[in-house]
Amino acid sequence: MSPSARGAVPSQAGRTVVVTGANSGVGKATAIALAAAGARTVITARNEARGRAAREDIRRTTGSDQVDLVVFDLADLASVRAGAAELLDRTERIDVLVNNAGLVLSDRQVTVDGFEATFATNHLGPFLLTRLLTDRLVESAPARVVNVASTAHRGARTGLDFDDLQSTGHYRGMQAYSRSKLANILFTTELARRLDGTGVTANSVHPGTVASGFARDDDASGFLAFGVKVIKPFILTPAKGARTSVYVATSPDLAGVTGQYFVKCRVRTPSPAARDEAAAILLWSVSEELVGAAPSAPGPAAGPGSGAR
Ligand SMILES: NC(=O)c1ccc[n+]([C@@H]2O[C@H](COP(=O)([O-])OP(=O)(O)OC[C@H]3O[C@@H](n4cnc5c(N)ncnc54)[C@H](OP(=O)(O)O)[C@@H]3O)[C@@H](O)[C@H]2O)c1
Repeated sequence: MSPSARGAVPSQAGRTVVVTGANSGVGKATAIALAAAGARTVITARNEARGRAAREDIRRTTGSDQVDLVVFDLADLASVRAGAAELLDRTERIDVLVNNAGLVLSDRQVTVDGFEATFATNHLGPFLLTRLLTDRLVESAPARVVNVASTAHRGARTGLDFDDLQSTGHYRGMQAYSRSKLANILFTTELARRLDGTGVTANSVHPGTVASGFARDDDASGFLAFGVKVIKPFILTPAKGARTSVYVATSPDLAGVTGQYFVKCRVRTPSPAARDEAAAILLWSVSEELVGAAPSAPGPAAGPGSGAR
């Protein structure tokens, strides 16, 4: 582990960070660490009551009066657009965006926009949110995007199924989750390439296996929830799980480092499917079509090799 990973979080005074899904688990612990380091910390939640409770808890824990809440649902693209507009309205700058929110669903669910809910929540919503906040990030450069992926991306061995991104065929919760986390890494690769030269970096992380609200009973059932409960005594606290996100969001050692995947505060090589640059480019264009025309396009859609990654 690098010295910065072991030491205290560098002062974030004067910086504004946005952490999605920060009312519980890894996201809340990430927000606590960043707020404690002096960042103006804007947390997002899909549920107002849970969001308010977390905001008060983070304020109390850190003693910071610079913790704000914006409520929107990443599984609802109109809600994401409204949430992004509110974030832009309430922040003058965004130095760090942590796309942390995510879930796993035992049964196939469909969002109001007609998308499979794991793909929509874990990939499409964060994709659109990032697109909508990109201009502000670029204006605030040097800035960072941190996408919380998972080692579970390795479960999607054959890559994304571009013929069935919505899992309309045989649905398996862990397979949909693995693919959505693979999408997080592919999105990071292409975002980093498009943001090259802007002063905004994009990296993904695996937080470790963390005891959180993840796979709780209303999201996951049966074997999935049982598996999570069985390993729970052996897994990390949310504070430890947040370390890699916080490190990648703040470490001076990582200035200019982009397009990488981090585990335990170190660069790791993700799966072969996650290193497929053609899939990263295709996912970007398909995602753009799925979310509709989004205003702030980061950079030209040049081919691979045109950036200096
Ligand atoms: N826990 C692990 O072992 C582990 C391992 C690898 C990767 N991860 C990743 O770490 C991230 C954080 O997970 P966690 O373990 O901290 O789980 P968590 O405690 O369940 O936190 C997930 C957060 O995402 C929010 N969220 C879910 N669906 C949303 C939506 N449609 N719109 C907005 N927010 C939504 C949740 O809100 P609600 O409280 O309202 O549901 C919650 O705030 C996820 O991306 C997950 O894939 C976790």
